[in-house]
Amino acid sequence: MIKVKGLTKDYGARRAINNLTFDAEQGEIVGFLGPNGAGKTTTMRILSGYMPPTDGEAVVAGFDVVTDSIEVRRRVGYMPETVPLYRDMSVYDFLKFMADLRHLPNAEDRIDETLELVAMTDRADGYIGNLSKGMKQRIGLAQALLHRPEVLILDEPTIGLDPGQVVEVRELIKEIGKERTVLLSTHILSEAQNICDRVLIINKGKIVTEDTPENLQARLVGAERVILRIRGEQDDLPLLLKKVKGVEDVEPRSDGSVEFAFAPGRDVRPEVARALIKEGYDLLEMRLVGLSLEEIFLELTGSEGKGN
Ligand SMILES: Nc1ncnc2c1ncn2[C@@H]1O[C@H](COP(=O)(O)OP(=O)(O)O)[C@@H](O)[C@H]1O
Ligand SMILES: [Mg+2]
Repeated sequence: MIKVKGLTKDYGARRAINNLTFDAEQGEIVGFLGPNGAGKTTTMRILSGYMPPTDGEAVVAGFDVVTDSIEVRRRVGYMPETVPLYRDMSVYDFLKFMADLRHLPNAEDRIDETLELVAMTDRADGYIGNLSKGMKQRIGLAQALLHRPEVLILDEPTIGLDPGQVVEVRELIKEIGKERTVLLSTHILSEAQNICDRVLIINKGKIVTEDTPENLQARLVGAERVILRIRGEQDDLPLLLKKVKGVEDVEPRSDGSVEFAFAPGRDVRPEVARALIKEGYDLLEMRLVGLSLEEIFLELTGSEGKGN
């Protein structure tokens, strides 16, 4: 369980997070979605008991992060953005080292269980330096899980992984999240939507909005832009597109393609395709392009009229 009220952190004159209020229950995976510099890492370090806030309160696993930071650290598993791993240690020795730091009783059993959980048992004797990025990430997760924490805080756990590894780590997090409270950060919308039960969108130190992935999707439907490419001359294309009902924001691009958007909830691609074919164009490409986080913020806040 995580309960945060009015959390604020200043680095000197710079306010990194500003009056954050949210909570996360046991069995819930909550995502922190925001661009670089949004304040994700700052918040996570505070919630892990490694840095005090400037103002506000946070209770994690029943303990206050300021007055009971040691109790918090006992109950939280924290996976930082870059896990400090010792290349020259074996996987097992590294986890033993981490278990000893935590004064874990029956460390050997815990390590075996954890290796099993992250599917690294057969790598226990291998050197960390020889592991793939995906496996290192799993060791990062393993060290966060060693003491069976109630609360897991994972800072960009899939960053730098190849697509196959991303899927593996996501599945692992979902599995682990069934019985614990998980707060994870990401700057990828689809990742937040894929893993989380609830998404908090954070920008410039503030929570912009909070919703379930399903509702976020509904709020963003049709917000995607389309890139269209035809064979040959495209000069008349913008004019033609503008005649199709629902097509908005037509813009020729420098590479010879044309970009347009459509009104929320109204995918006009079939109509566009019909209109093009009717006019005798050869359609080479029509693809949806994802929104940037900036565009998502605009979309989500603009439509509610509460932008900052
Ligand atoms: N140790 C620090 N000293 C000064 N400013 C910092 C420090 N850490 C982060 N910041 C600033 O605080 C803001 C939030 O950073 P951070 O929490 O790392 O965001 P995120 O993890 O979302 O990228 C940024 O503007 C960043 O430059
Ligand atoms: Mg960060």
